[in-house]
This record gives sequence, C-alpha cells and structure tokens, in this order.
Amino acid sequence: MVQSVRKAVFPVAGLGTRFLPATKSIPKEIMSLVDRPLIQYAIDEAREAGITEFIFVTSRGKSALEDYFDDAPVLERKLRDDNKTDLLNALSCTEMDSGAIAYVRQKEALGLGHAVWCARRLIGDEPFAVLLPDDVISGEKSCLKQMVEAYESTGGNMVAAMEVPQEQTSSYGVLDVQDDMGSIVSVKNMVEKPDAASAPSNLAVIGRYILTPKVLQNLSSFERGAGGEIQLTDAIAKEANGEGVYGFRFRGERYDCGSKIGFLKATVAFGLSRPDLQDEFSTFLYDLMATSKAAE
Ligand code: UTP
Repeated sequence: MVQSVRKAVFPVAGLGTRFLPATKSIPKEIMSLVDRPLIQYAIDEAREAGITEFIFVTSRGKSALEDYFDDAPVLERKLRDDNKTDLLNALSCTEMDSGAIAYVRQKEALGLGHAVWCARRLIGDEPFAVLLPDDVISGEKSCLKQMVEAYESTGGNMVAAMEVPQEQTSSYGVLDVQDDMGSIVSVKNMVEKPDAASAPSNLAVIGRYILTPKVLQNLSSFERGAGGEIQLTDAIAKEANGEGVYGFRFRGERYDCGSKIGFLKATVAFGLSRPDLQDEFSTFLYDLMATSKAAE
C-alpha cells in the first residue's frame, strides 16, 4: 500500500512577467476567471483530491494571497447584517482551518525546482503533490484526484501529461516513454524544453505532480538546467528508470493561464459554463463575431 498524499505545495513565487504591468502589484494567482482567482481553482482541486495541508511558496509582493485565505470580519459582518447569505456562501471556499495553510518564502526566483525545494522542511518524509495555479484544468473529476487514484496502483513519482503539437515541445518538460499503457506511461527520461527536432516525444508535462521526498534530495544539489534555472523536471528525471516515474494522461481541458491567450480562452470557457451568465455572454460573443466578420 502506498502512503497517502496529504500535503500539497503551491509554488507562487514567480515574477509573472508575461502579465506586466498588471503583475507589478497583483500576484498572477489572484487574477480571476470570472469571479474566482486562479489560486482558488487549485485549492479546490487539491481539496477534492484529499489534500489537508497546503504549503505556499511565496515571495515579496504576494501578501494579497495570504489575505485572500484569511478571515475578513468587517466584510462578513456587513454581509450578515444585510442578509446577503448568497455572498457569504460564496466566501466559504476561502476558509482554511487554522494551521492548515503554511507559507515559506523563496528569496530569489531561481526556478520551479528551487521553489519546491524551499518547502522541504514542511513536507518532511512523505509523498506530496505540487500544483501550479497557472494551469487550470476543468473536467468532471479533478486532475489531481485522478492522479491520486492512479498513484495508488503505481506509487513512485507521477506527472500529469498531455500530447502537444510537436512545434510546442520547447515550452514544456517532455517525457521519454518506456512503456505506454494508455492513461499511464512509464518514463525512462524527461527533458526540459527540448526543441521540436530533439524532443523524445510530444507528451508534455503540465503543472500537476505527485512526488517522493527523494526528489527534494535531488534538488538540493542546485543544478542549473534549461534557462539557467533549477528545474523540477531535472530532479524528477533522476528517478526515471522505467519504474520510478509515471506520466498520467488526465481527462479534462487544461488552460495555460500563465499566458495571455490561455487566460483569455479560459475566461471565455468559464464564462460560457456559468448558468447565470451564459445566455447574455454567448449572445454578446456571437454578435461580436458577426460584427467583426461583416467588417472584414
Ligand atoms: P512560470 O514559468 O510561469 O514563471 O512559473 P512566472 O514567473 O510565474 O511567470 P512569467 O514566465 O515570468 O510570466 C511556473 C510556476 O512556478 C512558480 C510560479 O509562481 C508559477 O506558479 N515559480 C517559478 C516559483 O514559485 N519560483 C520560481 O523561481 C519560478
């Protein structure tokens, strides 16, 4: 029996330069799809997968994230006095038990691998999940829950994977597959940001991981990889020998909300999926398209 996954790390210490000037003062993870910040989607997903301890790796300028998961007594009292029960209910997803959420600082943005390493003392000696809030995944069952279920039969390390167009491999960590068993693949190597010609496959890693503490040890050598950063992919690749690392083809739609186009696509998709907005919003989009077609 594998040890259950109770802890999740949320690396949120990046600079978010692709969203400047907005991210000069707003953490990227607080930017919202309709009315929920990106971080809320990641927390909900972790909760659905059975995570009970939440570790944020933060940096200077991210205090809005801490406030978001704190009580807001003045606001709550006002909503209660005004009988705004629906709005009070909307706030309930931001509630965290005392001590369930912890923050560590990454002093310098040296890479995703370094950010995860910063959480090592809070993780201790047990398997843990990593969720990148930029990757928002919609679907019937949350991506991390699907992974936790698959991990119960594989153990080891598991990364979420999806096929990408070959010309996009240079934006991802890419799997060198040993055995393709359908939704699960065993991995013999992983390469961070290979160009299309040298990529071992087009099966790319996206921001959900279940990792063993051995990966933290591997990170402590501070080896620099692609882009001069301490890469999480490289530390996981050290465990890949056909049995130590598995790729998991999740079911669901993934939006890269770390990029402008991905964020826009997610905004439209989530807006259209909201019963309270879909009629007016779809009419608006339809009219907008018709007007721009007519103008061509
Ligand atoms: P990105 O590669 O998207 O970097 O990081 P970024 O800084 O957030 O955004 P851009 O590229 O400048 O626009 C992927 C995830 O890893 C975290 C980020 O916060 C994001 O959740 N990260 C990255 C860290 O926590 N620390 C780092 O040193 C690098």
